[in-house]
Amino acid sequence: MTPEPPGALPADGLPRPNRDSRRPLPDSTTKSFDRIAQPYRFVEWCTFGGALQRTRTAHIAQLDDCRRILILGEGDGRFLQRLCARNPRAEIHVVERSARMIQLARRRARNASGATFFEADALTHPLNGPYDAVVTAFFLDCFEGEELNRLLARLTASCAPSCTWLYADFHSGRSYWSRLRNGTWIWLLYRAFGLTTDIRARRLADPLPTLAAFGWRLVDEVWQRGGLLRSAHLQLHG
Ligand SMILES: C[S@@+](CC[C@H](N)C(=O)[O-])C[C@H]1O[C@@H](n2cnc3c(N)ncnc32)[C@H](O)[C@@H]1O
Repeated sequence: MTPEPPGALPADGLPRPNRDSRRPLPDSTTKSFDRIAQPYRFVEWCTFGGALQRTRTAHIAQLDDCRRILILGEGDGRFLQRLCARNPRAEIHVVERSARMIQLARRRARNASGATFFEADALTHPLNGPYDAVVTAFFLDCFEGEELNRLLARLTASCAPSCTWLYADFHSGRSYWSRLRNGTWIWLLYRAFGLTTDIRARRLADPLPTLAAFGWRLVDEVWQRGGLLRSAHLQLHG
């Protein structure tokens, strides 16, 4: 019998008790994304229509030939579902801390036979690279400062040469007026997530300069909603 990778959920999708004290799982007393998992899609649609999903998937075609893909903070499975429809042969590792989000993703992405879910903290979960691609959609905004830099360094270390990184997130704006407008949206979002989830970040960091310092080259960018939403395709050099 092949041993299960560390942290993988069993085939029935039901989490087992956490026996590894180095990787504490969120429990129902913390404000993880569990609480907002169910209404997440509806609230997103009410605030941004289809713009976030267009941003998430803007560069998805870049993953068509990738064999090993790491998705961090997948959420409720809308990216995964599209990815599996396009590239059913890929081996996909999903690291997601919210058990409820994983449940929804499993249900939505029934076609995800190549996906393994790890209910775990991406900051500490041992990564089983090398990966051909990394996907972070509206995930890196949960981190800032040293924590974010350490995460980016860990991820880069688990990537194969020429690895692809699909990044989607909010952006604080490039002109005075867009900074004012985007800043208001971002402030509201951090207030809302600060009240309903356990994210520690309180401001939006731009991870692309750090990724550039780690050898990632920007291949293409797509902007939506007047520069509030950015989707980037990056490639590792070296
Ligand atoms: C803002 S949601 C984004 C979800 C989805 N990727 C999207 O595009 O909407 C952030 C997701 O990251 C997960 N998450 C937050 N911190 C995490 C961590 N330290 N490790 C793993 N997942 C985490 C949350 O549970 C949530 O599903």
